[in-house]
Amino acid sequence: MDYKAIEVKRQEGITWLMFNRPEKKNAMNPTLHREMHHALWELEDDADTRVLIITGKGDSFCAGEDLREYFYELKDKPVESERIRKISYEWRGKMLRLFSKPTIACVNGWCFGGGFAVVGNCDLAIVAEEAKLGLSEINFGNFPGGLVPRAIIDVMRWREVMYYSLTGDAFDGKRAAEIGLVNFAVPKVKLEEETLKLAAKLVEKDAIALKETKEVLRIGRHLNDEETWYWSQAKGHEMTYLQKGGWLDKGIKQFTDKQYRPGLETFKKD
Ligand code: ACO
Repeated sequence: MDYKAIEVKRQEGITWLMFNRPEKKNAMNPTLHREMHHALWELEDDADTRVLIITGKGDSFCAGEDLREYFYELKDKPVESERIRKISYEWRGKMLRLFSKPTIACVNGWCFGGGFAVVGNCDLAIVAEEAKLGLSEINFGNFPGGLVPRAIIDVMRWREVMYYSLTGDAFDGKRAAEIGLVNFAVPKVKLEEETLKLAAKLVEKDAIALKETKEVLRIGRHLNDEETWYWSQAKGHEMTYLQKGGWLDKGIKQFTDKQYRPGLETFKKD
């Protein structure tokens, strides 16, 4: 597919998925939603993608939904509107949360409204200290809807969920880290380097163990104690089967052979 609103860049096991409407601050229009849906579907099975980074081109990460093309121009087209909302829901929700490789949101600038669902549903997030983020819906007479409430409740501190949803105040990258929306903030000049450093750390790990970790935690957080226990037992058996015994035969064996210290480093895969 020839993408117009996004761009894909591959780099040694790491794939950058970039919103590419810098002239519109990377607001998500129907084309962008369709393309992200398609790209995530394709990259799910792409052996060269071991870690996925989502970022924006230009000075913006994502200015939320395209207020003109997603809301205003579709207001009298219920069928088309429903269709595109579903696509938007699918890729930013289940497809992103359960993407089989780790995902990192690299928040390079403006991030508003629906952009929070992208950040919240990535596994990890790094932001530029200088970025400005906001739950701006209240500022145009609306509320954080769709996927945003779940995503922000999942990651942000509750008082800040309420504060920023009710006031619509924008905040910077450092504040985003303080309130749990992202893992950490770095100066913008260091953002790409630090994001790649984190991605490279993940590329070193066992890919099946990463996938199982995501599924155990992401599904497990919605289960009770007993369900979590049996869920993780079942996933453990699945992992051993998929790895063909890898974690025991390599990870544990290399430790018993005194080849490495798992408390401090990763086992040798090959
Ligand atoms: N939807 C549609 N177009 C947008 C959006 C958006 N969400 N955000 C920016 N744009 C467009 C502007 O209309 C403008 O287009 P034009 O050049 O054709 O007039 C262009 O992007 C540049 O935007 P400016 O406002 O000129 O840029 P500036 O740097 O001054 O401000 C900012 C950037 C703060 C991001 C501002 O554009 C803004 O407030 N955007 C809306 C952000 C927002 O509230 N998003 C929430 C959407 S609701 C939701 O996601 C559920």
